[in-house]
Amino acid sequence: MTLHPGLAAVAGLIGTWRGEGSGEYPTIHSFTYTEEVTFTDIGKPFLHYAQRTWSPTGAPMHTETGYFRVIEGTTVEFVLAQPTGQTELAEGPLTVSENGFKCTLEAQITNSASAKQVDATGRQLELVGDVLTTRFAMAAVSVPMTHHLASELHRVDAAAG
Ligand code: HEM
Repeated sequence: MTLHPGLAAVAGLIGTWRGEGSGEYPTIHSFTYTEEVTFTDIGKPFLHYAQRTWSPTGAPMHTETGYFRVIEGTTVEFVLAQPTGQTELAEGPLTVSENGFKCTLEAQITNSASAKQVDATGRQLELVGDVLTTRFAMAAVSVPMTHHLASELHRVDAAAG
């Protein structure tokens, strides 16, 4: 399958990534987790995204899915569904480097009736060769924008396309 030319700048994302992360927030106990992320090319001008996480004992933790869109090679739109009752529409500039890219995204959030209140989120994705680092902050449950998550992932395999 031919990669859509609009995705050339982020082609290095395609595949499966795995690694360790840590989380914190002023209202909760800090924690660590294992994370697996897959970006899949389905022949459209966006990548399908799926994430799963596990506690150090192997219990399932957070999971999320979405679509990673690149607009004119300069902007990322990351549309995400959260099982905890939020949707995130995250947007921001894409900065391409010699062996990867960085994007810093700010999201508008919609909360379901039963969800914990999340007012805004910020995400950073940075790819350098075969290392993908992520950072996530949120304004939620009456706390202003504060760091929640950081992870460092390494390539497990390349997607079949
Ligand atoms: C790697 C992904 C994530 C992991 C491992 C994770 C883990 C956790 C854990 C362990 C807690 C504390 C216990 C609990 O309430 O379940 C928590 C709280 C929370 N997380 Fe996350 N989380 C992740 C992603 C997210 C995302 C993407 C959002 C928002 C869109 C989010 C929003 C929240 C909120 C609102 C709380 C509740 C804080 C409170 O009640 O004071 N988390 N998270």
